[in-house]
Amino acid sequence: MATFQRNSPLLKSYTLPCGSVIPNRIAKAAMTERLAGKSHFSNSDLCNLYGKWSDSGAGLLISGNIMVDKRYKESSGNIVVEDESGIDELKELTSEGTRNGNHFWAQISHAGRQATIFSTFSPIAPSAIKLKKLMLFAKPKAMTLEQVQDVIERYVNTSVICKKGGFTGVQIHAAHGYLLSQFLSPNTNKRTDNYGGSIENRARILVEIIKKTREKVGPSFPISVKLNSADFQKGGFNEKDAFYVIDELQKLKIDLLEISGGTYENIVFLTKRNERASTRKREAFFMEFAEKVRTKTDIPLMVTGGFRTLEFCEQVIENSELEIVGFARPFLLDSGFPETFVNMEDSKIEDASFNFPIKELADMAEAGYYDFQIHRIAKNKELKTRYSPYLAVLRLTTNEIKMGWFR
Ligand SMILES: Cc1cc2nc3c(=O)[nH]c(=O)nc-3n(C[C@H](O)[C@H](O)[C@H](O)COP(=O)(O)O)c2cc1C
Repeated sequence: MATFQRNSPLLKSYTLPCGSVIPNRIAKAAMTERLAGKSHFSNSDLCNLYGKWSDSGAGLLISGNIMVDKRYKESSGNIVVEDESGIDELKELTSEGTRNGNHFWAQISHAGRQATIFSTFSPIAPSAIKLKKLMLFAKPKAMTLEQVQDVIERYVNTSVICKKGGFTGVQIHAAHGYLLSQFLSPNTNKRTDNYGGSIENRARILVEIIKKTREKVGPSFPISVKLNSADFQKGGFNEKDAFYVIDELQKLKIDLLEISGGTYENIVFLTKRNERASTRKREAFFMEFAEKVRTKTDIPLMVTGGFRTLEFCEQVIENSELEIVGFARPFLLDSGFPETFVNMEDSKIEDASFNFPIKELADMAEAGYYDFQIHRIAKNKELKTRYSPYLAVLRLTTNEIKMGWFR
């Protein structure tokens, strides 16, 4: 269990609108684990991983993508919750993941057209628009209205089962180009029914999911949404759209809005740190957008992406710019994070550097590098921060093929 020795604003508890208390302002943001076995249930590796992350001292852990439909996964190793058949395994996972009194939320997701060919050759999406990246994605079929209703029911059902399974909250994933983010974007949603066209229509599926989920999980269970500030693509979901959605989420009284950005076509949620310092005014990505959000809503805010110095993290909490600070890769760069980070004045996290020569595979090299670290934690091994990006690509691809096609 972590022992914090400094009197940091990051260590103050925070009470969400639903009444739940997060013991401190440090969140481990969602990171896909790719560890579930053939059944797509949780298992001892996942229990081990989240037990360790609970011991880290973070007040809030958010799971990686938990899929509502096993046909449309983001990774072949995702946990899938379609019914209660894996509930005992979920209970074991949440018992380990909350063993220090921290929160542990399930991130609920559907990959839509971002489901790779390792999980399906016939994905579904708002419209039949193919994702062009590395030939890893098949052309999706446009969803029928029945399929839209089915997806809404699935989100609600998965959230309810996750609550029964011991998660202390849920996060609806509406960012990073997954299905709900595809509905929100005019580039990927060309529908002419009530779920396409105006931003009111494009946001309808998300609004209906939140409304129905709240009815089922009750007023005192945390519901969060992860939303893009923008897709960072010409003609895509933009800030104006995002403000409309945030207004709707405010009316629905969600408990925490996590701000991110980008899709598989432009993964700014990982790569924005490569921008020149003069382009980015503040250390963390999306902080300038968060500043504007703060003036328009009182939904509690979390931003994830690029927080690397203790001074900056403490400043955004001290100044009430954010309620929660989200970290992902820092948990994989230092096994003592966040304890060592908070305990030392002037702490700074150094990112791993990737100079992968094959541009098309650079994203995969980075994802593979971090995936390797997650699997080492799960297997009780030390982090191995010197790890070849070539091996990372090879290992990640082989594992996805093995888990997706040969089991
Ligand atoms: C290995 C890895 C897996 C990720 N998986 C997810 C995921 O399942 N869901 C999600 O919303 N974001 C995911 N992300 C994005 C992170 O939550 C976060 O937005 C991003 O890494 C930026 O934060 P950081 O600079 O603190 O790493 C993932 C990031 C990494 C590095």
